[in-house]
Amino acid sequence: MTITNEDELAGLQAIGRIVANTMQAMARAAEPGMTTAELDAIGRDLLARDGAQSAPETTYGFPGATCISVNEEIAHGIPGPRVIAAGDLVNIDVSASKDGYFADTGATFRIGPVSPALDRLCRDGRRAMQIGIAEVGHGRPLAAIGQAVGRFAAARGYTLIRNLASHGTGRALHEAPEELATWPTRGDRRKMHRGMVFTVEPFLSLGGHHARQGSDGWTLFSHPPAPVVQYEHTVVTTARGALIVTRPDQP
Ligand code: CO
Ligand code: CO
Repeated sequence: MTITNEDELAGLQAIGRIVANTMQAMARAAEPGMTTAELDAIGRDLLARDGAQSAPETTYGFPGATCISVNEEIAHGIPGPRVIAAGDLVNIDVSASKDGYFADTGATFRIGPVSPALDRLCRDGRRAMQIGIAEVGHGRPLAAIGQAVGRFAAARGYTLIRNLASHGTGRALHEAPEELATWPTRGDRRKMHRGMVFTVEPFLSLGGHHARQGSDGWTLFSHPPAPVVQYEHTVVTTARGALIVTRPDQP
């Protein structure tokens, strides 16, 4: 969507805060021995308490309130009987709607200590998102996001998953300007404009290039198999840069 007035911004910020708070609360609750279904139930309750509806469930019939992807699962993981263990990387992606506004946020969390390589991947995954967000501004090319993230990833020896794009959001989970690359592309002449709402969610990896769908019809895996992290915010384009709407009350 394109934000044109204060009411629209307030509606988007309200759901942005809800998905961010829900994701943070789920991350604080995640611990070894818990199943991903139990973690999802916490998210479902928090969304309901705030009067929000799960976007993947209502939009696509996804079998869960939130997407929880562990280790080799990189996105769209179905909450279920899988038990979270110490040393896991757990990606929690929360998207939801309230009063007709949609917001989408995600992050990869470490369950206890992980290897130095995975620690660095997590820190740099968040940086990759921030570097992409720093390119946002009225009149700037959308492709600048992928160029900047691509430069950062290449300089540090990472790969990017190149078929999981960022996307317009706001009045639907996925909408105009549709797909938006977080890797270098050619020929995309689209520009950002004031009020434009979209996600920035690069998937940074230690060797993965593409996401492939698993046999359950939802879960995505890295090809070739390699650790992957994802960090995602929903932003509004302004003349002075990005306004992040998926900020939690308590970071
Ligand atoms: Co998401
Ligand atoms: Co998204």
